[in-house]
Amino acid sequence: KRKIRIGILGFGTVGQGVWKHIKEDRAALERRLGVKLELVRAAVSDLSKKRGVKLAKSKLTDDPYAIVDDPKIDIVCELIGGTKLARKLTLRALANGKTVVTANKALICEHGDELFTAARKEGVHYFFEASVAGGIPIIKTLREGLVANRFPLIYGILNGTSNYILTRMEREGLSFEEIVGDARDLGYVEADESLDLDGWDAAHKAVILAYLAHGKWVNLDEMLVEGIRNITARDVAYASELGYKIKLLAVIARNFNDETLSVRLHPALIKKGEIMAQVDMVFNGVSLTGDVVGTTLLVGRGAGQDATASAVISDIADAVHAIQGAPGPLISEEDEDIYRQLGEGLTLA
Ligand code: HSE
Repeated sequence: KRKIRIGILGFGTVGQGVWKHIKEDRAALERRLGVKLELVRAAVSDLSKKRGVKLAKSKLTDDPYAIVDDPKIDIVCELIGGTKLARKLTLRALANGKTVVTANKALICEHGDELFTAARKEGVHYFFEASVAGGIPIIKTLREGLVANRFPLIYGILNGTSNYILTRMEREGLSFEEIVGDARDLGYVEADESLDLDGWDAAHKAVILAYLAHGKWVNLDEMLVEGIRNITARDVAYASELGYKIKLLAVIARNFNDETLSVRLHPALIKKGEIMAQVDMVFNGVSLTGDVVGTTLLVGRGAGQDATASAVISDIADAVHAIQGAPGPLISEEDEDIYRQLGEGLTLA
């Protein structure tokens, strides 16, 4: 059996989850994929930091180039977050002919066009299932499962942390300030809090979904982005009295008559009886209305170590198939960007 060698950039929550689950489920994964998997090493910024998953010294490095430049490594998992170093290392790994897997939504949102172009140019693949809605296979659903469709409406709850806060505000009648501390203590709130609390994290994810569905890269500064910081206990109580819940929604609406696209992120009222209104705590939900299939709803864990590791490992599986010659989703026969062509002539509403 062929051996596929994997290197991981970043050994935080997600990196450790990926390592742990590949180790624990290796035999089953190898049987399903028809290859041997080797975890070569993980790169970290601080070698002395204590981690839940213990690695032999030889498996850790503080030099990320020991991964992206290692000719033996086939798949690089970029799980460091941030955009500057992540972009540089991703471009380098692609240029070295490696298949790259990422969970980095900010990176895809800001540099996706450049990175997808670089991957096509090198004839390699770049996978990003874990970048949107954690464990929910939304990327594969959009571009594989629902490939027959055009999408007048996609909307959903894409940020687990703000959904957790809104859920507890609603259930306990408390204010944003009274709950945000618990969300921090549980490790839900990102180090850069504004990502979760001001809507940017979900906006990044909306941009990625809009691109996959409509072939148009929307700039964050062209979008309405409003987080949950200004929602009061009174807002939540009034909404409830009227039969609604307040949810932070990403909305991607395309009008096929005048060819306009609206991508936005803001708190919205949803009738309590709707399934989406019952997507609570750190769960995410995405509703996709396709012209062929009708409405499909996906609900699942949008954040957390295991759910995100599940999505990263699904990309590792795709990477294994791509390395063995399966045509991946980013390279069309003419070596063109098939998604970008979808968006020609589309304007923002
Ligand atoms: N901070 C994100 C969330 C993590 O709360 O949904 C997953 O992207």
